[in-house]
Amino acid sequence: MKIGVFDSGLGGLVVTKAFINALPEYDYVYYGDTEHLPYGEKTSGQILSYTIEAIKFLISQNCGLIIIACNTATSIALRYLQQRFIPSFAPDVKVLGVVIPTVEEALLDNAQKVGVVATNATVRSHIYEQELHKIKPDLEVREIAAPELVPFIEADNFVEAKKSAIEYAKKFEDVDSLILGCTHYPLLKEYFREALPKVRIISQDELMGAKLADYLRRHIEIDICLSRNRDYKFLVSNWNEHYQKVAAMLFPGIPVREK
Ligand code: DGL
Repeated sequence: MKIGVFDSGLGGLVVTKAFINALPEYDYVYYGDTEHLPYGEKTSGQILSYTIEAIKFLISQNCGLIIIACNTATSIALRYLQQRFIPSFAPDVKVLGVVIPTVEEALLDNAQKVGVVATNATVRSHIYEQELHKIKPDLEVREIAAPELVPFIEADNFVEAKKSAIEYAKKFEDVDSLILGCTHYPLLKEYFREALPKVRIISQDELMGAKLADYLRRHIEIDICLSRNRDYKFLVSNWNEHYQKVAAMLFPGIPVREK
């Protein structure tokens, strides 16, 4: 069985790259639901139904471990998938998200005041605030939605994305740590770091590889079911040239295909 990675778009490619860097020997299927992005602007019902369809698709691609590399889909759909959908539809499949590993990372450095920048839907769910407070109830948390960033990134408009990221960064000058709570934002992490030199910027591309490696070490029963042929497959629901360009930068020579 393969490792499936799902996101609405480019964020999943960034996380897949982190996984392949840390664990190159496994087989991966990335699926980007580019037809429906940005997920951050959709209703919870839409996000849930797109995510269920994506998970079914990855299961049909023989994925036995699926990582929802999308904070928006994790915040709206992960609990339902783990508690209701997967146990009846595919009990042998394991589905994980990106929020808990990020929260663990954010709390490593004795953080007192944590900022979260994320999509509208993620902020509306307050998943970061809730999960951070479960571990550290007196933590100060400020969540702010940045709905322009994903559309700028997907449109390859990094001039506007940079301006906008710098404006958002100004709202976090007083925090000690800032979670980039959307897997598209690692593509903007240097702008946040430049704008906030004293703030610890938590970027999911820098932590998810080690988190997956750690998970597989602790779950031998899953690890032994995973195939290791260095077979990497990249699929999207709606192909465009920009995708091929970004994918070619991250994974030279590997095509992105429409599913
Ligand atoms: N990359 C997704 C996330 O982490 C969001 C992108 C979108 O809005 O589609 O939240």
